[in-house]
Amino acid sequence: MRKPLMAGNWKMHKTISESLSFVTEFKTAVADVKDVDILICPTLVSVNAVYNEVKKSNIKVGAQNIFWEEKGAFTGEVSASMLKDAGCSYVLIGHSERRQYFGETNETVNKKTKAALSNGIIPIVCVGETLKDREENTTFEVIEKQVKEALLGFSQEEFSKLVIAYEPVWAIGTGKTATPQQAQEVHAFIRKVCFQICKNLADTIRILYGGSVKPDNVSELMKQPDIDGGLVGGASLEVESFVKLVNYSKNIHQI
Ligand code: 13P
Repeated sequence: MRKPLMAGNWKMHKTISESLSFVTEFKTAVADVKDVDILICPTLVSVNAVYNEVKKSNIKVGAQNIFWEEKGAFTGEVSASMLKDAGCSYVLIGHSERRQYFGETNETVNKKTKAALSNGIIPIVCVGETLKDREENTTFEVIEKQVKEALLGFSQEEFSKLVIAYEPVWAIGTGKTATPQQAQEVHAFIRKVCFQICKNLADTIRILYGGSVKPDNVSELMKQPDIDGGLVGGASLEVESFVKLVNYSKNIHQI
């Protein structure tokens, strides 16, 4: 079965000391969680400090971006082996904000995913349609292209290590969550595309939902058969709400 993964994407929030004070409190609060994988993706400057604080705990650390070259004259970039060395076991790739503001394309997502996999880092490949795509009824077309182009040319072994995150752009940071049915529909579709790419592994690949996931909507989302976790922005920035998200199954009756 697929083990749920609850991932916090802190985007460009928190200094090193703010990150450390969060994880010091958070790691105690989630110390007994075994049935959910927990991931925090702080900013790059905080990654190593956070890693040192959580390395003996059940919390993993990830980066929000990566570059595909191993080393060289690429000012401002960081390679997979450097991320690994700093303590990253996951990396977000192709987040819609990177596609929108930093020119990320399906092709660069593919190269970055390959680099992460070659260095033993689990890529979380992000896909999602814009509001315009949804209104023009091209959601499935856009998602299929994003998934197929991002995952082009991977071996079965590589494919087996991937995580995909579905984040409808119109639901990110807007407070507008996709309904559990809307999200499930796209997740099931992504799994179908995965089946076309690699029959044996479509059932094992984890597909996270992201876009205004909050303590009061997480349990309905997580009840959907093809939703295997969350990629959370705003609600991962406060200890109390991220603890609730990680404990979504226990909190079903309290909400
Ligand atoms: P919000 O949870 O703030 O909508 O952000 C979602 C997201 O982009 C996570 O990567």
